[in-house]
Amino acid sequence: MIMMKGKKILLAVTGGIAAYKSAELIRLFIKNDAQVKVLMTKNAQEFITPLTLQTLSSHPVYRETFSLIKDFDIAHIALAQEADILVIAPATANIIGKIAAGLADDLLTTVVMATKAPVLICPSMNTNMYENVIVKENIQKLTSRGYHMMEADSGELACKSEGVGRLPELSDIVEKVKSILAEKDLAGETVLVTAGPTREPLDPVRFITNYSSGKMGYALASRARRRGASVILISGPTVLSVPRGVTYVPVSTAVEMRHAVMKNLKQSTIVIKSAAVADYRPSVCADAKIKKKDGPWTLYLERNPDIIAEIGKKKKERILIGFAMESEDLIKNAKAKMLAKNMDLIVANDVKQKDAGFQSDTNIVKILDRDGGIEELPVMDKMDVADRILDRAKMIITRRRKVA
Ligand code: PMT
Repeated sequence: MIMMKGKKILLAVTGGIAAYKSAELIRLFIKNDAQVKVLMTKNAQEFITPLTLQTLSSHPVYRETFSLIKDFDIAHIALAQEADILVIAPATANIIGKIAAGLADDLLTTVVMATKAPVLICPSMNTNMYENVIVKENIQKLTSRGYHMMEADSGELACKSEGVGRLPELSDIVEKVKSILAEKDLAGETVLVTAGPTREPLDPVRFITNYSSGKMGYALASRARRRGASVILISGPTVLSVPRGVTYVPVSTAVEMRHAVMKNLKQSTIVIKSAAVADYRPSVCADAKIKKKDGPWTLYLERNPDIIAEIGKKKKERILIGFAMESEDLIKNAKAKMLAKNMDLIVANDVKQKDAGFQSDTNIVKILDRDGGIEELPVMDKMDVADRILDRAKMIITRRRKVA
């Protein structure tokens, strides 16, 4: 996977209060092994000094249209040609308007006009400005012309008001840049991912659930999106933020999850079931809170639908990947599940291992295939595990296309 290593990022800073955040953004890009050059508009220099950004980026900061980079290169042409991506952060209403109008009257607007590199625009402005219909139209116009546009975040603004208009989180900007630069080897695929736990209610205040945090499933959704797939994330309740650009379908019970999966199955070419689905639910969900009584309480449970088994029966050409969460006989049990439910691959994780399974940011998995192959992976970040699973899905697609 090509990420940011060695990529040349041209960061353009325009004149908004969020300009101070560009210092941290440069550090994050460099931490990801990118080379960063900075361009500042005249107004940006009122908010943060070129010296700060020059020191952090280890390159001169470009400010003048007609400054010389080396020998006879003209700044806007040289910068426009060498960048792998141009990131405008923060982008004011003014710069968005100028780009949309096709103006080229300073260094930044001429670079935008001259570059063939992808341009990522990260707006930041007062809520009323962001919601102004002219700004909205400009954003729409740029999006339709192929500019990558991030949505502004909501929260407290510099003008002491609350609302939409904050610069997107820096980690989201980095993620977006990675996604734009990444190899889009899953473009054209629709990946359906299930994630998190299910909740099976007993009454209005109690439910049966498990420890799934959703991290494994959200990692799969995020990486599949980064690799160019359309992603449908069907998730039980979690506290995680939904990865940008995925279609999010929140559910609570196993029955709801089954319904959402079946509704979205037709368009899905790869299905990955990482959710920890409750096998049983209370036979009755009381309308009112169940009162405690003396003596024990017998709770009757009934089977939930086995979602993956149902998908296995309707699988056709799509790739079906399941997970197996076991505490004993990991390989034997995982293999039996894969064959019984017609999966192409099963990802086995041993919940008893430290740094694996529920909640942790890492996992330790074995990927089993139908030919008897077992790929054993060491302890890895769930994001990297997700990439390895998607690599295997991609290999199956490539193999099938060669045979066809
Ligand atoms: O969410 P995290 O905290 O990051 O933890 C990740 C995880 C441990 C939940 C994940 O890695 C994992 O193992 N998910 C599958 C858990 C599970 O339900 O395993 P299982 O062996 O019980 O089920 C086998 C497969 O059948 C799974 O793909 C499951 O989604 C599916 N299933 C299970 C029951 C059911 N009624 N319907 C299903 O589709």
